[in-house]
Amino acid sequence: MTAVAASVAEGGGCRHLAIIMDGNGRWAQAKRLPRIAGHREGVQAVRRVVEAAPTLGLDVLTLYAFSSENWKRPADEVSDLMGLLRHYVQHELDTLHRNGVRLDFIGDWQALKPDLVQLLATARDKTRSNSGLRLVMALNYGGQGEIVRAARALAADVAAGTLAPDGITTDMLEARLDTAGLPPPDAVLRTSGELRLSNFLLWQTAYAEFLVTETLWPDFDGAALAAALDEFSRRERRFGGR
Ligand code: IPE
Ligand code: IPE
Ligand code: MG
Repeated sequence: MTAVAASVAEGGGCRHLAIIMDGNGRWAQAKRLPRIAGHREGVQAVRRVVEAAPTLGLDVLTLYAFSSENWKRPADEVSDLMGLLRHYVQHELDTLHRNGVRLDFIGDWQALKPDLVQLLATARDKTRSNSGLRLVMALNYGGQGEIVRAARALAADVAAGTLAPDGITTDMLEARLDTAGLPPPDAVLRTSGELRLSNFLLWQTAYAEFLVTETLWPDFDGAALAAALDEFSRRERRFGGR
């Protein structure tokens, strides 16, 4: 069964929600605080949402935490964001593990600073056998780059003579994406009102429902998540059928 067929067979519920956590800067600006204050409050929103997600029926929660384009930001902001990521994993890992959360990463996260890569790999390995919420953090992630990496892996097989160009299928490309083994997101939620994907999960969102809220990410909580999933439940999904 293909990934899309499996999600149809499963029924109407949202199993996998992917969130573009946006608006930290505007939240801080509105309060005349430095941007780091918005990012710090954003981490509290992550904690609230991770806690609420399994109670609302989600199996997979993918969070866009740092894009491959976010390196364009001033060095001090990038360093603040990396520091918060390190702090979050260091301080939340035991709680996540106790709650059965399985932590995973997508994107070119292995290109981050070696000590951070080490911490992330340890967190992933420690929680690998957990059967609760799958929490996937997109780090140094860009959808175009991910597809290019998958294309390179296919090209390597062609060059090695183990794969014919005409033999390449959608399943084969999908199996080489960072998200291999995960169901596609049923919905993508973006906070702060922007109406764009910003290079997030370009392949995987082929049939995802878009949910947009004006709420800025630092103000997001379990009730806002429940409201978004309620909106999702009223959508009619067709997958090209009628
Ligand atoms: C989202 O908030 C956090 C990241 C992109 C890491 P922003 O920092 O993009 O906040 P705005 O869009 O400037 O308000
Ligand atoms: C997308 O938000 C990236 C993350 C949430 C990590 P951005 O704030 O970077 O996106 P743009 O620049 O407004 O498109
Ligand atoms: Mg933004």
